[in-house]
Amino acid sequence: EKGGWDSYMDKEIHEDPAAVSETLLGRFDAKGTLNLDEVHIDEDVFRQVDKIIVVACGTASYAGLVAKYAIEHWVRIPVEVELAHEFRYRDPILTPRTLVVAISQSGETMDTLMALRHAREQGSRVLAICNTQGSTIPRESDAVLYTHAGPEIAVASTKAFVAQIVAAYLLGLYLAQVKGTMFRDEIRHIVTDLKAMPEKIQWVLDTQADTIAKTAKQMLNAHSFIFLGRHVGYPVALEGALKLKEIAYTFSEGFAAGELKHGPIALVDAGEPVVCIIPSPRGRAVLHSKMLSSIEEVKARGAFTIAVAEEGDESVANYADVTFWRPQCPTLLSPLVDVVPLQLFAMDMSVLKKNDVDKPRNLAKSVTVE
Ligand code: BG6
Repeated sequence: EKGGWDSYMDKEIHEDPAAVSETLLGRFDAKGTLNLDEVHIDEDVFRQVDKIIVVACGTASYAGLVAKYAIEHWVRIPVEVELAHEFRYRDPILTPRTLVVAISQSGETMDTLMALRHAREQGSRVLAICNTQGSTIPRESDAVLYTHAGPEIAVASTKAFVAQIVAAYLLGLYLAQVKGTMFRDEIRHIVTDLKAMPEKIQWVLDTQADTIAKTAKQMLNAHSFIFLGRHVGYPVALEGALKLKEIAYTFSEGFAAGELKHGPIALVDAGEPVVCIIPSPRGRAVLHSKMLSSIEEVKARGAFTIAVAEEGDESVANYADVTFWRPQCPTLLSPLVDVVPLQLFAMDMSVLKKNDVDKPRNLAKSVTVE
C-alpha cells in the first residue's frame, strides 16, 4: 500500500508533483482556454460574482489564503478567507452575487459543511473544491471543482494542499477569463508556468532532502518554532507551523513577517529556530527586501535561522544558518514549492521523535463533528 515508502505521509509528499499535474489535466481546450464546464455554473452567474468567501478548516484554509492573493490580483474582486466555524456563527454578509468556495480534502468536515449550508440558506452559491468524489460537501454544493491528488491517507495534509491551491487558481483564472479582467495571453502565460511547477517540486524532493533531514536532527530538541512569511509566504508560514504542531507535537506558530515588530520578536531568544520564507529576488523588490530585513532582525537577536529561498539568491547567505532551496518561479506560484521542504521537515522531525507520522495523537483525518 505504501509502495515502499516509510509512511503514507512520505509517499504523499512525493506525490505533490503528480497532485499538481493531475489537477491541471483536462481543464483547457486545444487553444489553452480554460474550460470548467464540469462545475455546471453558468458563465453568466460567474460574471456576476462580486465577492468570494472561502470557508475551510486547517490546511484547506491556508490554501484559501494563498488563493486570496492571486484571485484578488487577477479578478479584482474581494476575497475573504474564513475558518468555517467562525463564518457560520457571525452573521456574514451573503448575497446571490457572493460565491462561497468551500475547500475540503475529505469533503466531510462538519464545520465546513455547516458553513456552506448557511451560505446556501442565505441565497449564495457554493462551489466546493474537494478531493473526494461523491462526498457530502460536493453533494450539498451548487458545483464542484475536484482536486485530483488521489486518496490522502496520512492525517496531516500534504499533496491535497498543493492541489487545492491549483484548483483555486484555476477558478481565479476562469473568473478572470469570463469577466475579462486579464488578457487571454496573460492567462495562457500563467497556465504555462503552472504546468512547469511539478518539475520544480520534484527538484526540491530530489535535491533538498538531505539538508532538510540534517536540519531536523539538529533541531530535535527545540521547544518551539517561529515561521515568518510575507504576501503568499505568509500562509506558507502558517502551514509550515501547522505541520510541525500536528505531527512533531512541537509548539510552532506562523506570523506575517511585518507583524514581527508588533509583538512576536519578543519571543526571539538566542537559539530560537525561525523559519523564513524568502520571496523571489526577481519578483517585487519590496517584498524581497522586507523579508530580508525580517530575517536580519531575528538573526541579530541570536535566532537559528532557516530560510526557504530561491536558487541563486545570494543575499540570504548573510542571514541564514541553513537554506532550503527552491527553483526560480513566479511569486504567486511559489507556495506550491515553498511548502514542500516544510512538509519534509515536519515529517523528519516526527520520525526522529518516534511519533506515529500518519496517525498523530488526538487528531482525525476528517472531523465529522462540529
Ligand atoms: C483537520 C485535519 O481536522 O481537518 C487537517 O486533521 C485538515 O489535516 C482539516 O486540514 C480540514 O480537513 P478537510 O478534509 O476539510 O480538508
